[in-house]
Amino acid sequence: MHKLLELDLVRVVEDAAIASAKLMGAGDNNSADQAATEAMRLRLNDLNIDGRIVIGEGERDEAPMLYIGEEVGTKAAGAPQIDIAVDPLEGTNLCSSGGNGSVTLMAIAERGGLLHAPDIYMNKLIVSPEAAGKVDINAPVKDNIASLAKALGRTAAELVVVVLERDRHDQLIKEIRATGARIKLVTDGDVMPSIAAAVHGPNIHAVMGVGAAPEGVITAAALKCLKGYMQAHFVIRNDEDERRLKAAGVKDPSALLEIDDLAPGKQILFAATGVTSGELLEPVRFFAGGARTNTLVMSLSEGTARFVDSIHSLDGARLPVIFR
Ligand code: FBP
Repeated sequence: MHKLLELDLVRVVEDAAIASAKLMGAGDNNSADQAATEAMRLRLNDLNIDGRIVIGEGERDEAPMLYIGEEVGTKAAGAPQIDIAVDPLEGTNLCSSGGNGSVTLMAIAERGGLLHAPDIYMNKLIVSPEAAGKVDINAPVKDNIASLAKALGRTAAELVVVVLERDRHDQLIKEIRATGARIKLVTDGDVMPSIAAAVHGPNIHAVMGVGAAPEGVITAAALKCLKGYMQAHFVIRNDEDERRLKAAGVKDPSALLEIDDLAPGKQILFAATGVTSGELLEPVRFFAGGARTNTLVMSLSEGTARFVDSIHSLDGARLPVIFR
């Protein structure tokens, strides 16, 4: 079943990317996010699946669509029962300002294959797969940088660590700088840099710091397909966070979480389409009557990572032939 779903997933993230890319640079976060969400939902409801949103746009009373618990798909007899994690527009600010790095994201798994993480913060440590098991999110930053450098056969100065540019990371940034490692600060979006840390080429070796927990689950799904490495734990700031964790059914809110805790599924698919330029994906490029998209789709059971280059006729006119 998952073989057939791969192309379906590509269509879902492509549609969301085209819809939100139309609003690139418009300075309107809500409209860009809404366009992606509507397009994603429309396409999801067309699929022959019995789908359930487990990571979505928010809780039922907060989000009008793709809310947690929403059922999607045709739900026809025999349709596969799947859990779905979506982030229709990751890096909303980036899209609305035309900045680099916004993408549309989703991951699916068999029922129970993705942790129901509430929309609270999560401390994350993602490192190149060579350092799997050799770092510890609770250890001092300098120790983790030293272990990562050793695993990669590099000096600290030959490493690049991505950190979200937030006041809460001032101390973390100081500690990373003290090791001599280089830092790439990003204003939004920690999922794609985490994927970049798991592959050769982008020259990113780790992602450190606190980001959103739902994005942590989607990251874990992608990293599982790539045999990447990640550690995480929820950040509980107040009673409301406790309540949300309880409501989501998280049994041990203080547990150290690794990829199999966040994405325990055995049949995971992950897909992302670039909206604006990024390290791994080209942006949506419009031309007269159509658009071109670039999507990464990965299958855990197939052991594949495909980069899909699609040309879309958007006005029903002849599909233009483009070689480059
Ligand atoms: P958007 O929801 O605006 O797309 O932002 C996504 C994101 O940048 C995540 O990648 C990251 O984990 C989280 O937000 C960081 O949260 P905050 O902006 O509250 O620091």
